[in-house]
Amino acid sequence: MADGSSFSITTPIFYVNDVPHIGHAYTEVAADVLARWHRQRGDDTWLLTGTDEHGQKILRTASANDVTPKEWADRLVTDAWKPLLDTVDVANDDFIRTTDERHERGVTAFLQKLYDDGYIYAGEFEGFYCVGCEEYKQPSDLVPGTGPYEGQQVCAIHSIPVEVLAERNYFFRMSDFEQRLLDLYESNPQFIQPESVRNEIVSFVKQGLRDLSISRSSFDWGIQIPWDSDHVLYVWFDALLNYITALGYGTEDDEAFQRLWPSVHIVGKDIARFHAVIWPAMLMAAGLPVPERVFGHGWLLVGGEKMSKSKLTGIAPSEITDTFGSDAFRYYFLRAITFGQDGNFSWEDISARYQAELANGFGNLASRIVAMLNRYFDGAVPERGELTESDAAVDALAQAVTERADASIAAFAPHDAISTVWELVDALNGYITEQEPWALAKDVAQRERLATVLVTALRGLGTVAVLVSPVMPKATEKLWASIGAGGTIAEQRIDRAWEWQGSETVTPLAAGLFPRIEQPEQGAA
Ligand code: MSP
Repeated sequence: MADGSSFSITTPIFYVNDVPHIGHAYTEVAADVLARWHRQRGDDTWLLTGTDEHGQKILRTASANDVTPKEWADRLVTDAWKPLLDTVDVANDDFIRTTDERHERGVTAFLQKLYDDGYIYAGEFEGFYCVGCEEYKQPSDLVPGTGPYEGQQVCAIHSIPVEVLAERNYFFRMSDFEQRLLDLYESNPQFIQPESVRNEIVSFVKQGLRDLSISRSSFDWGIQIPWDSDHVLYVWFDALLNYITALGYGTEDDEAFQRLWPSVHIVGKDIARFHAVIWPAMLMAAGLPVPERVFGHGWLLVGGEKMSKSKLTGIAPSEITDTFGSDAFRYYFLRAITFGQDGNFSWEDISARYQAELANGFGNLASRIVAMLNRYFDGAVPERGELTESDAAVDALAQAVTERADASIAAFAPHDAISTVWELVDALNGYITEQEPWALAKDVAQRERLATVLVTALRGLGTVAVLVSPVMPKATEKLWASIGAGGTIAEQRIDRAWEWQGSETVTPLAAGLFPRIEQPEQGAA
C-alpha cells in the first residue's frame, strides 16, 4: 500500500539498569503515534526501539544484584522493557539490544572503518565522568554537592559525585567536524527541533568541540575495540550505532539500511546533544548520511522536577493504564503536553480530561449516534436526503480537520493534531444538539431529515475514528466494528479520513468506549 515516501523513526534505546517509568513510556508512545499515522498514510514506515545494555551503570547494578550484566539485562528486557510495549500498546517493527550479535558485528565494522580512515587515535584522557549520565564532564558541568556530598563537586543532573579518570584511551576526531556540523544546522534548520533545543546545540558547538574519548580499559562490559582487546567501546558510541545496525549496516544484508536510512530520532531533550552532535559527526566520518531529524521532546515533571527513578519520583506506566487503559494514557500525554515542552503530570488532570474529553466528548458522541441509528432505523444506515448548510458545514469541517491534522503530524505536533480533531468532536456534538434528531424522530414527515442528520453525524464520527486511531487504537477498533465500517481501522487511509461515506449497518456499542472510572487512583502527584 506504500504510495508515499519512507518514514523511519526511532526511540532512544533504554538503559536496563532499572524498570521503565512514564517518562520512558512517553517517548515510546510519541514515536508510536507518529509511526502509526505515517503507516496509515501509506508511507513505508519503520519504528525501531530497543535497549542499551553495556557500560558501567548496568555493570554496577548487576554486580550489586550478584548476577552477570548479561543475566541482568536479559531479566530486565524480558520482565520490564518488552512488556512496556504491550502496556502502552506500541506497534514497533523491530527491537534491538546492544548485546545482539547483529549489533556487535555492525559496530565492529564501523569502528574498523573509522580507524582505517584515520579518525581514531590513541591518547591520554584526564578528566571527569558521570556514570549516571555515562558522559565525560567538563568542570563547568559540575555543581557543589549538598548533604552527604557537601564539599565535593557533583553532576548537575544526577547530584552525585563524578569520577576522576586518568586513562590511556582511543579518541574520535570529533573536533574535525565542528564546521561541518554548524553548516548542517544552518543549511537544514529542521535538523534539530524544537527551536529551543536547536539553539542550545548550536551555541554548544560554537564554543568549540573537543575530540571524544571512545574507549575504556578499566572494565570489560562492552564491545571490544577490534584492534585492541584491552579496551571496550564507550557506551554512547556503541548505543548510537543501534540506529543503523538494526537496519543491517555492516552486514551483507543491508537492504533495510539502503531503503530506510536516514531515520527521524525522537529523544528526550537531555540526550539531544548526543544525537545532534556526536552522532552526525560519527556518520560524517564514515561517509554516511546524517539523520533526517532529531526531535528533542520535553520532560514529564512531577512536582515541578524531572521525574526520575533515582530521585524516587518514578511512576510505573501500569499504575496509570490499570485505571485508565492504554488508550487514555496515550491520549492524555500527547494531548496535554505540547510536544517539545515539559509537562506536569497529575492524577487530577488525567482524570478530568478522561471524563470531559474521552468519556463525555468522544465516547458520548459515539454512543449517541450508534444508539439513535439503532433506535430509529434498526441499525440499517439510511440514505442522506438533500443537505442543508449545517450538514454541508459538517462535511467541510471533516475535510479541513483531516488536512490540518495531517499537516500537524508532518510538523511533529501531535498535540495540535489531536486538538484539531477535537474541533470536529465538539462540532459534531453541537450539531446533534442543534438538530435534535430525537425531536425529528417524533414526526414521520421528518423521516428523511432524520436520516440526513444521523448519517451526516455518522460520517463525521467515522472521520474522527480514523484520525484518532493512531492515538487510541483499541477504542477506535471497537468503534469501527460497531459502525460496520469494514476492514480494520488500521488499514484506513488517514489522509483521506474525511472521504468515508458511511456504512450499511451499525450494531450497538456493548459498553461505552470509555467506561466510567469509579475511583481514580490518587497517587504521589
Ligand atoms: N540509553 C540512553 C539512550 C541511548 S540512545 C542511543 C538513555 N537511556 S534512558 O533510559 O536513560 O532514557 C531514555 C529516554 O527516556 C531519554 O530520551 C530520556 O529523555 C527519556 N526520559 C527519562 N526521563 C524522562 C522524563 N521524566 N520525561 C520524559 N522523558 C524522560 O538515555
